[in-house]
Amino acid sequence: EKGGYEHFMLKEIYEQPNAIKDTYRGRLLADKGIIQMAGVEDNLEKFLNADRIIIVACGTSWHAGLVAEYVIEEFARIPVEVEYASEFRYRNPIINKNDVVIAISQSGETADTLAAIKLAKENGAFVFGVCNVVGSSISRETHAGAYTHAGPEIGVASTKAFTTQITILTLIALRLAKANGTMSVSDYQRYLHELELIPSKVQEALECNVVAEQVAAIYKDATNCLYLGRGYNFPVALEGALKLKEISYIHAEGYPAAEMKHGPIALIDESMPVVVIAPNKGHYDKVVSNIQEIKSRSGKIIAIVTKGDVQVKELADHVIEIPEANEALTPLLTTIPLQLLSYHIAVMRGCNVDQPRNLAKSVTVE
Ligand code: F6R
Repeated sequence: EKGGYEHFMLKEIYEQPNAIKDTYRGRLLADKGIIQMAGVEDNLEKFLNADRIIIVACGTSWHAGLVAEYVIEEFARIPVEVEYASEFRYRNPIINKNDVVIAISQSGETADTLAAIKLAKENGAFVFGVCNVVGSSISRETHAGAYTHAGPEIGVASTKAFTTQITILTLIALRLAKANGTMSVSDYQRYLHELELIPSKVQEALECNVVAEQVAAIYKDATNCLYLGRGYNFPVALEGALKLKEISYIHAEGYPAAEMKHGPIALIDESMPVVVIAPNKGHYDKVVSNIQEIKSRSGKIIAIVTKGDVQVKELADHVIEIPEANEALTPLLTTIPLQLLSYHIAVMRGCNVDQPRNLAKSVTVE
């Protein structure tokens, strides 16, 4: 059942190239310049007339929501807010008829997300679900939706659910951008073709497994770890830290790299590993200066870089390479080494990777 892998988590990490393909199968027709998802097409006007999109989710799905905020706002120019479902449901939020709420949930059973959906519906919002489990409570409770089709995720730590959620939300962003005319036709076409290349790039990113295992062996006894990223990769930093916490029980924090100087930099010394997500796109130069700041305080730097990188390689203690990609699509690649790093560290520490202590796959109670 684990397909020759030692753990479900590792199997599911390796399933990602196919899972992403399954997510966009029949929906992304790059040569024709078409993105089609019934749930979106049937409700296109609601999305286009939305005053804003509110994304509600928990945990890893909330991190996917943060990536979606960046992608939807940049591509489709629709204001997006991302909320923890547990906060949203209890804080008497302002919800209007012209709001579109997107609920993201792998299991489709998360109690807080379900409650947030009910609240949004009571207030007249249109609610769209992004679920993995077909027929789940959230998929039934929402007005429309799109399944991720990632296949069953058994490992408690979410892996392929995250990358497939990002995939579908990126498809939605592109579809809305096309309808809104907020992206040039050539950029739109380019993204469609780039998306088609993602599964093979994820496959290539998985080749970092050997290096990830070597790095894991060096830092497996760490007691703390920082994860830094900017822009599209800030949510990936949060997700990387969550993966490490939940399966290895090492305390980890994710931060937007520039926030470091507002506090967390005080933590840095020679015993602090800092994972920095530094692909050659976006704010590369800014991330390089953040790395210099860590280095001058003797922090240990593990950098996720684009193949062929020179500058970060000179500064970092370790580098893990991922293939080149368009900035907005880098989260689908930078996530891979972080999953593998946590996985190997947890295995080396003798942790129960697939069923970490105190955690459940579906959180059906609040
Ligand atoms: C982390 C993890 C949890 C879930 C969260 C939401 O690896 O698995 O943080 O992401 O409990 O679950 P879903 O997506 O099922 O609503």
